[in-house]
Amino acid sequence: MKKKLKLTAKKANRYDLYEESVQNVDFETEFFAKIFKKYTKKQCTKIREDFCASAKISQAWVKRNKSNIAYAVDLDKKILNFAKNRSKQECTVNEFERIKFIKGNSQTKSTPKVDLVSACNFSYWVFKTRSELIKYFKNTYKCLNNSGVFMLDAFGGYEAHQELEESTKHKNFTYVWDQHSFNPITNDLTCYIHFEFPDGSSMRKAFVYEWRLWSLPEIKECLQEAGFKSVDVYMQGWDDKKDEETDEFFKTKKCDADPGWIAYIVACKKAY
Ligand SMILES: C[S@@+](CC[C@H](N)C(=O)[O-])C[C@H]1O[C@@H](n2cnc3c(N)ncnc32)[C@H](O)[C@@H]1O
Repeated sequence: MKKKLKLTAKKANRYDLYEESVQNVDFETEFFAKIFKKYTKKQCTKIREDFCASAKISQAWVKRNKSNIAYAVDLDKKILNFAKNRSKQECTVNEFERIKFIKGNSQTKSTPKVDLVSACNFSYWVFKTRSELIKYFKNTYKCLNNSGVFMLDAFGGYEAHQELEESTKHKNFTYVWDQHSFNPITNDLTCYIHFEFPDGSSMRKAFVYEWRLWSLPEIKECLQEAGFKSVDVYMQGWDDKKDEETDEFFKTKKCDADPGWIAYIVACKKAY
């Protein structure tokens, strides 16, 4: 029998490792569709995936339904080319044609109107001032249909203010989340993702994030200032028996001061 070669830093593709470590696009697309239906009573067909990187959400979206369309927006030409090539391999011709790859700044780029815009994995935290953040939110507002929904995520809790490293073992590698530096005066947060392999090799700083740690009330206020009429927070559930997060997010107005939490924010153009 042929021996399967172990993954090493040289052989691995950092985008593949990223997707396996931090993304769950089947969950995300299912959640987007469910939330859109819950608020608008309509079916969501067109989405815009901001900060799309390898455009995994867009791929999963067009695969869900034959009438689904996705606009995948990213600043970086290199990552968009990767996304295009990968999608070509992993989608049928018809699915591939329903993904529109757009090189541009999510803060200013116009696209045809969509039902839902997503900004996942905290990517919009690149905007470090209120005016920059509101400018981005106003652009998403403009790109949405009248009953459009904007979905974004956030993390927080006192651990978010700490400099720490967290390792998670995967089958062929270890994912390391490195909250490298945090400045409480500005809330500037520098984070890295490193990958480590069984042969001792590693990919240091495979991804680098220069963010501002935004709080939920700040994000909510900026969304309202950009014009969104209803803004709800959905907190991730907790399984007491297993002592870990569940895959469900609940709409709530009050929750425990957990050390580390993840939330989705659902912002609608219409008041609900
Ligand atoms: C954290 S990754 C996004 C990953 C992916 N969307 C996810 O859900 O995990 C951040 C991506 O945002 C892109 N990016 C950063 N600033 C941007 C901007 N202003 N407009 C569009 N894309 C931007 C980067 O090129 C990078 O590919």
